[in-house]
Amino acid sequence: MLEVRSITVRFAGLTAVSDLSFDVGEGEILAIMGPNGAGKTSAFNAITGFARPAAGEVLFDGRSITGLKPDAIAALGIRRTFQNNGILREMSVLENVLMGLELSTASSMAGVVFGLPSSVRAEQEAVAAAYAQLASLGVSALAERPAGSLSFGQQRLVEICRALVSGARLIMLDEPAVGLSPMERLQLGEVLRDLAARGIAIVLVEHVQDLVMAVSDRVLVLNYGKKIAEAAPEEVRRNKLVLEAYLGTA
Ligand SMILES: Nc1ncnc2c1ncn2[C@@H]1O[C@H](COP(=O)(O)OP(=O)(O)OP(=O)(O)O)[C@@H](O)[C@H]1O
Ligand SMILES: [Mg+2]
Repeated sequence: MLEVRSITVRFAGLTAVSDLSFDVGEGEILAIMGPNGAGKTSAFNAITGFARPAAGEVLFDGRSITGLKPDAIAALGIRRTFQNNGILREMSVLENVLMGLELSTASSMAGVVFGLPSSVRAEQEAVAAAYAQLASLGVSALAERPAGSLSFGQQRLVEICRALVSGARLIMLDEPAVGLSPMERLQLGEVLRDLAARGIAIVLVEHVQDLVMAVSDRVLVLNYGKKIAEAAPEEVRRNKLVLEAYLGTA
């Protein structure tokens, strides 16, 4: 589904990501690990259109998406979350999820204002779709609550619902377990496995080892922008280069 071909990301003199390649298939969970500053978020940015790779190519369903704008990439079915929480705290959970539909319904929302029957129907359908996603993750009872009143774990689920309602086929999560309790991490892990079982591909940047080990099919480790390992979780855990990178002796 996603093919990353030798991408390099540079910031004035600094190479944040160097010649990185990997693939993610339907229903697969790939974790990207690496020390702070290893280039994980920069790789996400290059894939999702928030940064332009200096070299290399990104393909989605065999089609090049390199250099497309973030909106265009999202519209193709690649949705991401941000490292510091993309929840709008003052808005309700339902409104937060509906934001995922903004791209497809922005024009019809204008129609709602003028009371066009087709637009009212479109809005009802949007709300129904948002509720269905919330229900599929077991959080529809929270729909009317201000999103800022939820626990971090619940907020992560809302972000995932927002991605799902837009029809995401690939979801990219940047450190989703930050601030989560051990219980919430387990729950998040189960949600991710369920999504994968539905055929959704997931790329997960994560430091929390228990979550990575529990959910990933494969783990890719970056260090100073370069891939130093890519293998099954248990194999990566034993990898000497990886241990060195984390112990700072590399
Ligand atoms: N906009 C930017 N301008 C200049 N340098 C940047 C920019 N964004 C990231 N960098 C640098 O690129 C390198 C990789 O950063 P990046 O944020 O991708 O790392 P990361 O692996 O996501 O780290 P963390 O675990 O702390 O989130 C770092 O040296 C960082 O300082
Ligand atoms: Mg980061």
